[in-house]
Amino acid sequence: MRGEQQAPTDLHLVGELTVLRSKSMDDAEADYSWRIDPELAALDATRPVTLTFTEYLRYHRDDVNYPSPWSVRMAIDTIGGHHIGNCMYYDINTEKSQCELGIMIGDRDYWSRGYGTDVVKTALAQIFMTTELERVYLHTLSHNYRAQKAFIKAGFTPVTDVKRDGYEFMLMEVWRPEWEAKNPDLLTSSSNDAPAETAPAPTSTSASQTDADPLLGS
Ligand SMILES: CC(C)(COP(=O)(O)OP(=O)(O)OC[C@H]1O[C@@H](n2cnc3c(N)ncnc32)[C@H](O)[C@@H]1OP(=O)(O)O)[C@@H](O)C(=O)NCCC(=O)NCCS
Repeated sequence: MRGEQQAPTDLHLVGELTVLRSKSMDDAEADYSWRIDPELAALDATRPVTLTFTEYLRYHRDDVNYPSPWSVRMAIDTIGGHHIGNCMYYDINTEKSQCELGIMIGDRDYWSRGYGTDVVKTALAQIFMTTELERVYLHTLSHNYRAQKAFIKAGFTPVTDVKRDGYEFMLMEVWRPEWEAKNPDLLTSSSNDAPAETAPAPTSTSASQTDADPLLGS
């Protein structure tokens, strides 16, 4: 059946180093500091946000209160509860049975210490254990070797170079059968052992619907 469903709003997915949880208003200050950071924007092939914090708060409030049915936005906390970044899966398309994954660890103190790999593993488990999607893909800049290594460690395979908007990306993907083959322990565990307590996942998007970032107008 096609139709919009409510995106999960009470996620709490526990990995080995990190917790993925639903976004909250308390995230606004850290998120804003990361969104205006030119280096982080460049690593994400975007432009830094130029809004004032007050203006940004309006968008953040809408994101928290009215989540898109075609995307799931999550905050990344350390196990100790320190907010270090964000992760989302978006452009959820049930006709193509796929979605795109994005991650950004804004707190540089947590780069290259295994946190990104842990987050991506948890997100993949969430997607493959709570939806029927067959494929998760992502684009990362071709020169972002740290990101590519983390994604490969988490189960992604490089597919091909993609040129878009003047950037060169590496397209990477993971398909359900290969993920299941590598995670038999997760499959044999009961549904209660899914990486989180979860609400129903969104199930549909039309081909033309995307989750372009409203702040960037892309
Ligand atoms: C990309 C990102 C999510 C990766 O998460 P992370 O926690 O830093 O990555 P991990 O520590 O799990 O894995 C990175 C691996 O790359 C290695 N690495 C770091 N810099 C590297 C480089 N320049 N070249 C090759 N490998 C590198 C690390 O040593 C580590 O490998 P190891 O575990 O074998 O030692 C995180 O760094 C991040 O968000 N960075 C800023 C934003 C960004 O790059 N966004 C792009 C996302 S598409």
